[in-house]
Amino acid sequence: MASQHGDASRIAFIGGGNMARAIIGGLLAKGKPEDTIAVADPSPDAQRALVEMGVTRTVDDAGAIVSDADLIVLAVKPQIMRAVASGFRGTIPEGTVVMSIAAGISVKALKSYLGEDVAIVRCMPNTPALVGRGVAGLYADAGVSALQRDLATDAMAAVGSTLWVDHETDIDTVIAVSGSGPAYFFAFMEAMINVAVEMGMDRKTATDLTLQTALGAATLASSVEISVSDLRRNVSSPGGTTEQAVKAFQEGGLETLVREAMLACKSRAEVMTKELE
Ligand SMILES: NC(=O)c1ccc[n+]([C@@H]2O[C@H](COP(=O)([O-])OP(=O)(O)OC[C@H]3O[C@@H](n4cnc5c(N)ncnc54)[C@H](OP(=O)(O)O)[C@@H]3O)[C@@H](O)[C@H]2O)c1
Repeated sequence: MASQHGDASRIAFIGGGNMARAIIGGLLAKGKPEDTIAVADPSPDAQRALVEMGVTRTVDDAGAIVSDADLIVLAVKPQIMRAVASGFRGTIPEGTVVMSIAAGISVKALKSYLGEDVAIVRCMPNTPALVGRGVAGLYADAGVSALQRDLATDAMAAVGSTLWVDHETDIDTVIAVSGSGPAYFFAFMEAMINVAVEMGMDRKTATDLTLQTALGAATLASSVEISVSDLRRNVSSPGGTTEQAVKAFQEGGLETLVREAMLACKSRAEVMTKELE
Protein backbone atom coordinates (compact mmCIF):
# COMPACT_ATOMS: atom_id res chain seq x y z
CA MET A 1 0.00 0.00 0.00
CA ALA A 2 1.38 3.43 -0.97
CA SER A 3 2.14 6.07 1.71
CA GLN A 4 0.40 9.39 2.35
CA HIS A 5 2.75 11.72 0.46
CA GLY A 6 4.50 14.90 1.58
CA ASP A 7 8.22 14.36 2.20
CA ALA A 8 7.37 10.77 3.06
CA SER A 9 6.15 10.04 -0.47
CA ARG A 10 8.02 7.06 -1.86
CA ILE A 11 9.55 7.44 -5.31
CA ALA A 12 10.78 4.51 -7.39
CA PHE A 13 13.04 5.46 -10.29
CA ILE A 14 13.22 2.90 -13.07
CA GLY A 15 16.51 3.73 -14.76
CA GLY A 16 19.20 5.55 -12.78
CA GLY A 17 21.00 7.37 -15.62
CA ASN A 18 21.74 11.05 -16.18
CA MET A 19 18.24 12.43 -15.93
CA ALA A 20 17.17 10.28 -12.97
CA ARG A 21 20.36 11.23 -11.11
CA ALA A 22 19.73 14.92 -11.79
CA ILE A 23 16.22 14.68 -10.31
CA ILE A 24 17.39 12.57 -7.35
CA GLY A 25 20.25 15.02 -6.66
CA GLY A 26 17.74 17.87 -6.59
CA LEU A 27 15.38 15.98 -4.29
CA LEU A 28 18.16 15.06 -1.83
CA ALA A 29 19.47 18.65 -1.87
CA LYS A 30 15.98 19.83 -0.94
CA GLY A 31 16.01 17.53 2.08
CA LYS A 32 13.94 14.58 0.85
CA PRO A 33 14.79 11.63 3.13
CA GLU A 34 17.13 9.11 1.44
CA ASP A 35 14.99 6.16 2.48
CA THR A 36 12.04 7.45 0.41
CA ILE A 37 13.96 7.02 -2.85
CA ALA A 38 14.61 3.68 -4.55
CA VAL A 39 16.24 3.10 -7.92
CA ALA A 40 16.25 0.10 -10.25
CA ASP A 41 19.11 0.02 -12.73
CA PRO A 42 21.10 -3.08 -13.75
CA SER A 43 24.21 -1.01 -14.46
CA PRO A 44 26.81 -1.35 -11.64
CA ASP A 45 28.26 2.05 -12.60
CA ALA A 46 24.87 3.72 -12.26
CA GLN A 47 24.25 2.01 -8.90
CA ARG A 48 27.67 3.06 -7.62
CA ALA A 49 27.04 6.69 -8.62
CA LEU A 50 23.66 6.61 -6.89
CA VAL A 51 25.09 5.19 -3.66
CA GLU A 52 27.76 7.93 -3.69
CA MET A 53 24.95 10.48 -3.94
CA GLY A 54 23.35 9.05 -0.81
CA VAL A 55 20.71 6.72 -2.30
CA THR A 56 20.30 3.80 0.10
CA ARG A 57 18.12 1.47 -1.98
CA THR A 58 19.42 0.45 -5.40
CA VAL A 59 18.32 -2.76 -7.07
CA ASP A 60 18.81 -4.47 -10.43
CA ASP A 61 15.19 -5.15 -11.19
CA ALA A 62 12.23 -2.73 -11.23
CA GLY A 63 9.89 -5.42 -9.90
CA ALA A 64 11.58 -5.17 -6.49
CA ILE A 65 10.69 -1.49 -5.87
CA VAL A 66 7.40 -0.62 -7.56
CA SER A 67 5.07 -2.34 -5.09
CA ASP A 68 5.39 0.29 -2.32
CA ALA A 69 5.92 3.43 -4.43
CA ASP A 70 3.62 6.48 -4.55
CA LEU A 71 5.34 7.76 -7.69
CA ILE A 72 7.13 5.60 -10.24
CA VAL A 73 9.45 7.56 -12.56
CA LEU A 74 10.19 5.79 -15.83
CA ALA A 75 13.63 7.07 -16.82
CA VAL A 76 14.94 4.46 -19.27
CA LYS A 77 15.61 5.02 -22.98
CA PRO A 78 12.44 4.95 -25.13
CA GLN A 79 13.68 1.92 -27.10
CA ILE A 80 13.61 -0.36 -24.04
CA MET A 81 10.54 1.13 -22.33
CA ARG A 82 8.15 -1.59 -23.53
CA ALA A 83 10.32 -4.44 -22.25
CA VAL A 84 11.05 -2.73 -18.92
CA ALA A 85 7.51 -1.51 -18.17
CA SER A 86 5.83 -4.75 -19.25
CA GLY A 87 8.06 -6.53 -16.72
CA PHE A 88 6.16 -5.08 -13.74
CA ARG A 89 2.67 -4.97 -15.24
CA GLY A 90 0.10 -5.96 -12.62
CA THR A 91 2.28 -5.05 -9.62
CA ILE A 92 1.59 -1.28 -9.41
CA PRO A 93 -0.40 -0.45 -6.25
CA GLU A 94 -3.73 1.32 -6.46
CA GLY A 95 -3.20 5.07 -5.97
CA THR A 96 0.32 5.04 -7.43
CA VAL A 97 1.05 7.35 -10.36
CA VAL A 98 3.55 6.53 -13.10
CA MET A 99 5.48 9.42 -14.66
CA SER A 100 7.41 8.75 -17.87
CA ILE A 101 10.15 11.18 -18.90
CA ALA A 102 10.83 9.36 -22.18
CA ALA A 103 10.34 11.22 -25.44
CA GLY A 104 7.94 9.68 -27.94
CA ILE A 105 6.14 7.20 -25.64
CA SER A 106 2.42 8.04 -25.59
CA VAL A 107 -0.05 7.45 -22.78
CA LYS A 108 -1.68 4.87 -25.07
CA ALA A 109 1.61 2.98 -25.40
CA LEU A 110 2.33 3.23 -21.65
CA LYS A 111 -1.13 1.87 -20.81
CA SER A 112 -0.63 -0.99 -23.23
CA TYR A 113 2.58 -1.91 -21.33
CA LEU A 114 1.33 -1.26 -17.78
CA GLY A 115 -2.44 -1.78 -17.82
CA GLU A 116 -5.41 0.42 -18.76
CA ASP A 117 -6.21 1.49 -15.18
CA VAL A 118 -2.78 2.88 -14.31
CA ALA A 119 -2.60 6.67 -13.70
CA ILE A 120 -0.07 8.13 -16.15
CA VAL A 121 1.80 11.45 -16.34
CA ARG A 122 4.06 12.30 -19.25
CA CYS A 123 6.90 14.67 -18.52
CA MET A 124 9.44 16.29 -20.82
CA PRO A 125 12.42 17.66 -18.89
CA ASN A 126 15.52 19.28 -20.41
CA THR A 127 19.25 19.04 -19.74
CA PRO A 128 19.61 22.24 -17.65
CA ALA A 129 17.93 20.03 -15.01
CA LEU A 130 21.46 18.69 -14.49
CA VAL A 131 22.33 22.05 -12.88
CA GLY A 132 18.94 22.64 -11.24
CA ARG A 133 17.80 25.08 -13.97
CA GLY A 134 15.55 22.84 -16.05
CA VAL A 135 12.04 23.43 -17.21
CA ALA A 136 9.68 20.49 -17.54
CA GLY A 137 6.39 20.27 -19.41
CA LEU A 138 3.93 17.79 -17.91
CA TYR A 139 0.69 16.21 -19.11
CA ALA A 140 -1.71 14.23 -16.93
CA ASP A 141 -3.97 11.55 -18.32
CA ALA A 142 -7.66 11.70 -17.33
CA GLY A 143 -7.32 9.30 -14.38
CA VAL A 144 -4.65 11.32 -12.56
CA SER A 145 -5.77 12.96 -9.27
CA ALA A 146 -4.77 16.41 -7.99
CA LEU A 147 -2.63 14.74 -5.31
CA GLN A 148 -0.85 12.65 -7.94
CA ARG A 149 -0.21 15.78 -10.04
CA ASP A 150 1.34 17.40 -6.95
CA LEU A 151 3.67 14.41 -6.53
CA ALA A 152 4.87 14.75 -10.13
CA THR A 153 5.22 18.54 -9.80
CA ASP A 154 7.22 18.22 -6.54
CA ALA A 155 9.63 15.72 -8.11
CA MET A 156 10.36 17.92 -11.13
CA ALA A 157 10.41 21.17 -9.13
CA ALA A 158 13.56 19.81 -7.45
CA VAL A 159 15.47 20.53 -10.68
CA GLY A 160 13.76 23.61 -12.07
CA SER A 161 10.36 24.93 -13.03
CA THR A 162 7.30 23.00 -14.15
CA LEU A 163 4.40 23.72 -16.50
CA TRP A 164 1.34 21.57 -17.10
CA VAL A 165 -0.15 21.31 -20.59
CA ASP A 166 -3.79 20.37 -21.31
CA HIS A 167 -3.36 18.10 -24.32
CA GLU A 168 -0.98 15.22 -24.87
CA THR A 169 -0.08 16.58 -28.33
CA ASP A 170 1.27 19.69 -26.55
CA ILE A 171 4.10 17.49 -25.23
CA ASP A 172 5.48 17.35 -28.81
CA THR A 173 5.50 21.16 -28.81
CA VAL A 174 7.22 21.13 -25.41
CA ILE A 175 9.89 18.91 -27.00
CA ALA A 176 10.28 21.41 -29.88
CA VAL A 177 10.57 24.38 -27.47
CA SER A 178 12.26 23.42 -24.21
CA GLY A 179 13.18 19.72 -24.59
CA SER A 180 15.44 20.32 -27.60
CA GLY A 181 15.72 24.08 -27.02
CA PRO A 182 19.02 24.02 -25.12
CA ALA A 183 20.71 22.67 -28.29
CA TYR A 184 19.35 25.59 -30.35
CA PHE A 185 20.95 28.06 -27.95
CA PHE A 186 24.17 26.01 -27.91
CA ALA A 187 24.25 26.15 -31.73
CA PHE A 188 23.68 29.92 -31.69
CA MET A 189 26.40 30.42 -29.06
CA GLU A 190 28.75 28.15 -31.03
CA ALA A 191 28.27 30.36 -34.11
CA MET A 192 28.86 33.56 -32.10
CA ILE A 193 32.07 32.13 -30.59
CA ASN A 194 33.37 31.02 -34.01
CA VAL A 195 32.69 34.43 -35.57
CA ALA A 196 34.33 36.28 -32.66
CA VAL A 197 37.41 34.06 -33.19
CA GLU A 198 37.33 34.91 -36.92
CA MET A 199 37.32 38.57 -35.87
CA GLY A 200 40.61 37.96 -34.06
CA MET A 201 39.55 37.26 -30.47
CA ASP A 202 41.03 34.30 -28.57
CA ARG A 203 38.59 31.41 -28.09
CA LYS A 204 38.45 31.58 -24.29
CA THR A 205 37.58 35.27 -24.23
CA ALA A 206 35.04 34.75 -27.05
CA THR A 207 33.47 31.85 -25.13
CA ASP A 208 33.30 33.77 -21.82
CA LEU A 209 31.76 36.83 -23.47
CA THR A 210 29.19 34.73 -25.34
CA LEU A 211 28.13 32.54 -22.40
CA GLN A 212 27.85 35.47 -19.98
CA THR A 213 25.84 37.40 -22.57
CA ALA A 214 23.43 34.46 -23.00
CA LEU A 215 23.11 34.06 -19.23
CA GLY A 216 22.59 37.80 -18.74
CA ALA A 217 20.04 38.08 -21.54
CA ALA A 218 17.97 35.14 -20.20
CA THR A 219 18.20 36.45 -16.63
CA LEU A 220 17.15 39.95 -17.71
CA ALA A 221 14.27 38.68 -19.85
CA SER A 222 12.95 36.51 -17.03
CA SER A 223 13.36 39.22 -14.35
CA VAL A 224 11.46 42.14 -15.91
CA GLU A 225 7.89 42.59 -17.11
CA ILE A 226 9.01 43.51 -20.62
CA SER A 227 8.45 41.26 -23.63
CA VAL A 228 11.50 39.87 -25.43
CA SER A 229 10.41 41.84 -28.54
CA ASP A 230 10.51 45.10 -26.55
CA LEU A 231 13.81 44.17 -24.93
CA ARG A 232 15.23 43.58 -28.41
CA ARG A 233 13.82 46.89 -29.70
CA ASN A 234 15.13 48.74 -26.62
CA VAL A 235 18.72 47.83 -27.45
CA SER A 236 18.35 48.46 -31.20
CA SER A 237 18.68 52.28 -31.39
CA PRO A 238 18.08 53.68 -34.88
CA GLY A 239 21.38 54.03 -36.71
CA GLY A 240 23.17 52.04 -33.97
CA THR A 241 25.27 48.90 -34.10
CA THR A 242 22.71 46.40 -32.73
CA GLU A 243 20.13 47.55 -35.29
CA GLN A 244 22.53 46.55 -38.07
CA ALA A 245 22.98 43.06 -36.60
CA VAL A 246 19.25 42.50 -36.04
CA LYS A 247 18.52 43.72 -39.60
CA ALA A 248 20.97 41.12 -40.94
CA PHE A 249 19.16 38.39 -38.94
CA GLN A 250 15.78 39.50 -40.27
CA GLU A 251 16.93 39.79 -43.88
CA GLY A 252 18.60 36.39 -43.58
CA GLY A 253 15.28 34.82 -42.54
CA LEU A 254 16.07 33.96 -38.90
CA GLU A 255 12.41 33.43 -37.94
CA THR A 256 11.76 31.22 -40.99
CA LEU A 257 14.80 29.12 -40.08
CA VAL A 258 13.69 28.78 -36.45
CA ARG A 259 10.20 27.75 -37.64
CA GLU A 260 11.66 25.09 -39.94
CA ALA A 261 13.88 23.75 -37.15
CA MET A 262 11.08 23.55 -34.59
CA LEU A 263 8.62 21.99 -37.05
CA ALA A 264 11.25 19.38 -37.99
CA CYS A 265 11.78 18.62 -34.29
CA LYS A 266 8.06 18.33 -33.57
CA SER A 267 7.44 16.17 -36.60
CA ARG A 268 10.26 13.79 -35.54
CA ALA A 269 8.63 13.52 -32.09
CA GLU A 270 5.30 12.63 -33.76
CA VAL A 271 6.92 9.98 -35.95
CA MET A 272 8.77 8.50 -32.94
CA THR A 273 5.47 8.28 -31.05
CA LYS A 274 3.85 6.35 -33.92
CA GLU A 275 6.87 4.05 -34.29
CA LEU A 276 6.90 3.23 -30.57
CA GLU A 277 3.12 2.70 -30.21
N1 LIG B 1 19.01 13.50 -20.91
C1 LIG B 1 18.11 14.36 -21.35
O1 LIG B 1 18.38 15.52 -21.67
C2 LIG B 1 16.67 14.00 -21.46
C3 LIG B 1 15.76 15.01 -21.66
C4 LIG B 1 14.43 14.66 -21.73
C5 LIG B 1 14.05 13.34 -21.61
N2 LIG B 1 14.99 12.38 -21.44
C6 LIG B 1 14.56 11.00 -21.35
O2 LIG B 1 14.96 10.48 -20.12
C7 LIG B 1 15.16 9.08 -20.24
C8 LIG B 1 16.49 8.76 -19.62
O3 LIG B 1 17.51 9.50 -20.29
P1 LIG B 1 18.99 9.57 -19.71
O4 LIG B 1 19.69 10.61 -20.48
O5 LIG B 1 18.94 9.63 -18.22
O6 LIG B 1 19.51 8.12 -20.18
P2 LIG B 1 20.66 7.21 -19.53
O7 LIG B 1 21.68 8.07 -18.87
O8 LIG B 1 21.09 6.24 -20.59
O9 LIG B 1 19.88 6.44 -18.37
C9 LIG B 1 19.09 5.29 -18.58
C10 LIG B 1 19.52 4.26 -17.54
O10 LIG B 1 18.61 3.16 -17.60
C11 LIG B 1 19.40 1.99 -17.41
N3 LIG B 1 18.70 0.77 -17.78
C12 LIG B 1 18.90 -0.03 -18.86
N4 LIG B 1 18.07 -1.10 -18.78
C13 LIG B 1 17.34 -0.98 -17.64
C14 LIG B 1 16.35 -1.77 -17.01
N5 LIG B 1 15.91 -2.92 -17.55
N6 LIG B 1 15.82 -1.34 -15.82
C15 LIG B 1 16.24 -0.19 -15.27
N7 LIG B 1 17.20 0.60 -15.83
C16 LIG B 1 17.74 0.22 -17.00
C17 LIG B 1 20.63 2.28 -18.22
O11 LIG B 1 21.68 1.39 -17.93
P3 LIG B 1 22.75 1.07 -19.14
O12 LIG B 1 23.50 2.36 -19.35
O13 LIG B 1 23.59 -0.03 -18.57
O14 LIG B 1 21.95 0.67 -20.34
C18 LIG B 1 20.93 3.72 -17.78
O15 LIG B 1 21.68 3.74 -16.57
C19 LIG B 1 15.09 8.75 -21.74
O16 LIG B 1 13.87 8.14 -22.03
C20 LIG B 1 15.20 10.09 -22.40
O17 LIG B 1 14.43 10.14 -23.59
C21 LIG B 1 16.29 12.69 -21.32
